[in-house]
Amino acid sequence: MRDASSPPTKVLMVEDNPGDARLVQLLLAEVGGFEITWKQDLREAAEWLREHVPDAVLLDLSLPDSHGVATIDAMRRVAPDLPVIVFTGLNDEAVGVAAVKRGCQDYLVKGQGDGQLIARTITYAVERKAIERERQQAAERMKRVLLQTVKAVSLTLEMRDPYTAGHQRRVAQLAQAIGERMGLDADRLEGLHTGALIHDLGKINVPSDFLSRPGKLSDAAFGVIKSHPNVGAEIVDGVDFPWPIARMIREHHERLDGSGYPAGLRGEEIILEARILAVADVVEAISSHRPYRPSLGLDAALKEIQDRAGTAYDPAVVDACLAVIRDNGNAVFRDDYDLPPVM
Ligand SMILES: [Fe+2]
Repeated sequence: MRDASSPPTKVLMVEDNPGDARLVQLLLAEVGGFEITWKQDLREAAEWLREHVPDAVLLDLSLPDSHGVATIDAMRRVAPDLPVIVFTGLNDEAVGVAAVKRGCQDYLVKGQGDGQLIARTITYAVERKAIERERQQAAERMKRVLLQTVKAVSLTLEMRDPYTAGHQRRVAQLAQAIGERMGLDADRLEGLHTGALIHDLGKINVPSDFLSRPGKLSDAAFGVIKSHPNVGAEIVDGVDFPWPIARMIREHHERLDGSGYPAGLRGEEIILEARILAVADVVEAISSHRPYRPSLGLDAALKEIQDRAGTAYDPAVVDACLAVIRDNGNAVFRDDYDLPPVM
């Protein structure tokens, strides 16, 4: 299980009964490889944990200053990342099972088993917790890589097309701020932010001079531009995103009254994320400089969404957007805008 050269496993034992504490110390000393710190109540243990990081905690649930499952919750608040093994009396094995359900790694019944069993229980708990941590780190790394990849794709599009330089990033920031204001949960906000970063992906299929040409476009040219929501959605259709990214892209030019494209969807037929994107997109587009015209200003952008709230745009989204702009102004578009942490 362990070789002699490895450092001892550091265990914090929280136990008010000196007899029980001594017995465990003795049994583990016989097995070897453990360094035990003994504290008699929760307050003392919490104080010690401020300065020290053990490998595991052995926790008696009946302490002078805490009792039952409340002891587990208190310990997990103090040391959320440590494996906790609960000590239970002979008659409360059910409490041990409940403890595991509450996130403890394992439980030991007092008076049952020898030093080997206690040692094994601690060692396995430490190993399991380490595996859990590695899994979590791997999942977080995958999420980071996904976001970086989406950002790279977003930048690729913007590099060939001055029209969209920075547009998707700014729309993503505003859309996320609107979504947050509307009370979307963290996972949905993350999806919204991700979808917004590539909402114009389909413009890769549109000749760049169509996008930056001043004045009125021919019907044919406008037809090509109008294909971009479908083209973008088709590109990401094969990507197994954990959010409805393809729908966000496909529906971001749909309008509440059915006047949008490509499908002329109405009202709640349009996914909420796309209704948010529609507002963020138009506010950003009107208030930014374009190669063929100067910025029309934020006021013009807000007037557009207010005038068409309920016809083109979802009024709840418009209200949230107005609140965001009222509180942040242009800062919401800046590079250093402080996005709520979604990753
Ligand atoms: Fe678009």
